Amino acid sequence: MLDLLCPVCGGRLTREEKVWRCENRHSFDIARSGYVNLLPPAPSGKRRGDDKRMVAARTAFLSRGYYDHLIGAVAEACAQLAGPDACLLDAGCGEGTYTRAIYDVCAAKGGRGQLLGADISAEAVSRAARRVPEGIFFAASTAHLPLAPESLDLIVNIFSPFMEDEFRRVLKPGGYLLRVVPMEKHLLELKAAVYDRPYENPPAALEAEGFRLLRTQELRKTITLSSNEDVQALFLMTPYYYKTGAEDQKKLSAVRSLRVTTEFLLAVYQT
Ligand SMILES: C[S@@+](CC[C@H](N)C(=O)[O-])C[C@H]1O[C@@H](n2cnc3c(N)ncnc32)[C@H](O)[C@@H]1O
Ligand SMILES: [Zn+2]
Repeated sequence: MLDLLCPVCGGRLTREEKVWRCENRHSFDIARSGYVNLLPPAPSGKRRGDDKRMVAARTAFLSRGYYDHLIGAVAEACAQLAGPDACLLDAGCGEGTYTRAIYDVCAAKGGRGQLLGADISAEAVSRAARRVPEGIFFAASTAHLPLAPESLDLIVNIFSPFMEDEFRRVLKPGGYLLRVVPMEKHLLELKAAVYDRPYENPPAALEAEGFRLLRTQELRKTITLSSNEDVQALFLMTPYYYKTGAEDQKKLSAVRSLRVTTEFLLAVYQT
């Protein structure tokens, strides 16, 4: 059984009924949804990760099935990489749709290991905990994970900050990392509907110190968003949402359907 560590003193946390507690009596309540907040207090007003609207938009969009091919590919890859007793972390798990699929596919293949999910957004990780009651979910920055060195077999990192040094610290020697990043033309038509000069995404830097890139897989699919709700939800769940002024955002209100390129790169590494 993998230990969570106390964010105050670094001691081992033990789970009691409604609280995680360390030997120095620092305690962290388990929310009704099942997650525990291990974040240090934030300066007031500072946004931490996705807010409530973005999280709700991601849930709405992912439930429509447009990304099911990606969710399936990620879950299959995890089941293939993780041994039956593996400790697996979804780093930047968001609202847990991928985490749920990962759990289900691993369990269907005889997996009986441990699944953890971390996100800096309490709103997101709370939803993930509800969605995957079999897992252990905590609010934390993946730049400072409350985990011992060399404690994980697999990290999944989907469209979330890539914390190279911290991931290397917590992975066991020979552990795996599965990253999913957007490719150049991903969502280009959505950007074209909002911006006068839409830019392609810069190619992802795949090199990572201390990691060996084992293989990559490209997943390309044109999807047709069939309602304004879906168009708005997709926009809201991207980083463009909080980088775009109200005037530009308004341009989407008249878009009833949209054909959009999706391009994902899955990269598998080993430490
Ligand atoms: C684009 S979302 C992806 C969520 C999920 N993996 C998915 O694909 O549905 C990025 C996530 O990273 C989280 N995030 C941003 N900075 C973070 C950090 N420093 N530590 C942990 N999570 C972070 C956000 O709150 C958000 O949930
Ligand atoms: Zn402590």
